[in-house]
Amino acid sequence: MKAAVIQEHGGLDRVRIEQVSDPEPTEDEVALNVHSAGLNHLDIWVRKGRPGLKLAMPHILGSDAAGVVLAVGGNVTNVSIGDKVILNPGLSCGSCEYCKSGEQSECISFGIVGMTRPGTFAEQVAVPASNVFAKPSHLNFDEAGTLALSYLTAWRMLMTRARLKPGQTVLIHGIGGGVALCVLQLAKRAGAEVIVTSSSDEKLTRAIQLGAEHTINYRKVDDVAQCVKDVTSGRGADVIIDTVGAATWPIDFSAVRRGGKIVLCGVTSGPNVETNLQMLYWNQLTILGSTMGSDEDFRQMLKAVTTARLKPVIDSIMPLESVREAMSRMEEGKQFGKIVLKISK
Ligand SMILES: NC(=O)c1ccc[n+]([C@@H]2O[C@H](COP(=O)([O-])OP(=O)(O)OC[C@H]3O[C@@H](n4cnc5c(N)ncnc54)[C@H](OP(=O)(O)O)[C@@H]3O)[C@@H](O)[C@H]2O)c1
Ligand SMILES: [Zn+2]
Repeated sequence: MKAAVIQEHGGLDRVRIEQVSDPEPTEDEVALNVHSAGLNHLDIWVRKGRPGLKLAMPHILGSDAAGVVLAVGGNVTNVSIGDKVILNPGLSCGSCEYCKSGEQSECISFGIVGMTRPGTFAEQVAVPASNVFAKPSHLNFDEAGTLALSYLTAWRMLMTRARLKPGQTVLIHGIGGGVALCVLQLAKRAGAEVIVTSSSDEKLTRAIQLGAEHTINYRKVDDVAQCVKDVTSGRGADVIIDTVGAATWPIDFSAVRRGGKIVLCGVTSGPNVETNLQMLYWNQLTILGSTMGSDEDFRQMLKAVTTARLKPVIDSIMPLESVREAMSRMEEGKQFGKIVLKISK
């Protein structure tokens, strides 16, 4: 089969379209015919590599997928050949204390399809059957193929970790990001008032169309936190959703209200920060880390997306062969919404 692989970590030129063997599902797995696969920033991290990440090469990139079940292992009962499905890319052991308490994304051996096993930028992928769910019927394959990783992460940050309430104010940094945009949609559905930032006025206009009440171009203003204070009568945001890290962390502490929550899931701009601990305790802040989500988060997210008939915002759809162009567009932050690789018809 055809797949987007790396033979070693590095730049875009390391990504190649190659012929590799078809995957063979074990007794507890299914093989999917991948119709569409959305890009995530994770694909870039995996391509670049990081200390401690040891992959069997060649490695197939990609974590999200929507497709059709092609083959099922002997123990599989939850899906059948021909079912239209999406993939939850989170991999957990099922037996550690965190899995047993239902917190699969806290698993001691937590992994992700496309990072710790071959990914979805391929004509076929084999995955545990328990990671496969019926495709929401209001979404086509391209939309459904972008759903899992971003919406799951957004759901857990906003609903499970921050416990957002209707009427609260949420600040979302960098609305061009995949998770950020899902947070906007979910926060509006939950009845929140939303402030978004971006480097692009065009993206801010699109965010207003999706329901954002207040916008800040972080390239054009000197003090993002002051802008947040200005639109919240000096109070600050109840909840801050940060996927950016080092560049936004100092802003978070000035833009959050007393007793407010800062939720972080990513460090696109870097992981190392200085924190004024006095601000943390004096203002009685809650800092929450968040990674993907539990099986229950996934089920709740799917139910919410289906009930509200939410549709992922699609930036562009490209063939598998354009994987380098797709990754480059994401790396340069040009996208608004998800970039999709269309793999099989
Ligand atoms: N822990 C988890 O489970 C998990 C899950 C998903 C993602 N992540 C991580 O979260 C991060 C975001 O990933 P993603 O795929 O959602 O998004 P992405 O597409 O990588 O997000 C890029 C966006 O970040 C924004 N940005 C960059 N620098 C900024 C700055 N200085 N200030 C404000 N915004 C800035 C830009 O928004 P504008 O274009 O609007 O300026 C840019 O378009 C990545 O680091 C990823 O690895 C973690
Ligand atoms: Zn576990």
